[in-house]
Parts: sequence; C-alpha cells; structure tokens
Amino acid sequence: MARFVKLATMSDLPAGSGREFEFEGRIFALFNVDGIVSAIDGNCPHQGGPLADGEIEGCTVICPWHGWRFDFRTGASPLGAKVKHPVYAVKIENDDILVEVP
Ligand code: FES
Repeated sequence: MARFVKLATMSDLPAGSGREFEFEGRIFALFNVDGIVSAIDGNCPHQGGPLADGEIEGCTVICPWHGWRFDFRTGASPLGAKVKHPVYAVKIENDDILVEVP
C-alpha cells in the first residue's frame, strides 16, 4: 500500500540539483527545479544508469550512461510511451520532502 515517507529535507536538495535517495532497497531520484521537487525511479529503464546523476535541462534529466531523456514531472520520454518511467507524488511539509512510495 502506497504511503508518504520522508526521504530528505529541502536543504539536502538545493535548487537546480538532483540526488539519489534509497528507501527499503528502492532507489529514488529527486530533483529540485525552482523549489518544485519531483521524484522518479532512480534507475534508468535502459540499463540501470543512475538518473539522479544526470544533467538537468529544464524539467528533463539526461541519463549519464547513454543519454536517454525523461521528463521528471511526468516520466515521459522522447522515445515514446514504451519507456515511460515511474514518477511518485511529492509533498513538502515544513522542510521535509515526503515521497509517495509504492
Ligand atoms: S542506462 Fe540510461 S540510457 Fe542507458
């Protein structure tokens, strides 16, 4: 059953950055663009590259291994619906970043 869990604080994730967080063995990639935090599955669906380490362009992250791109607000990829990536709801409470984990 999905529930919101604290994965980080806003001070862990400065504006313009991405960072990886682990919870119960699952990797999440969190991104902060202009104070809006997004969360996606941290492992690239191609070959498992660390998406949190990718370059950020707008609301897109570019996988550092082979360049696949994902919109981290929607999980969409220019490669089409077959590679849509999981995204997770985010709530900010005070300084805490809560992510809805499956
Ligand atoms: S592992 Fe991400 S593009 Fe290949």
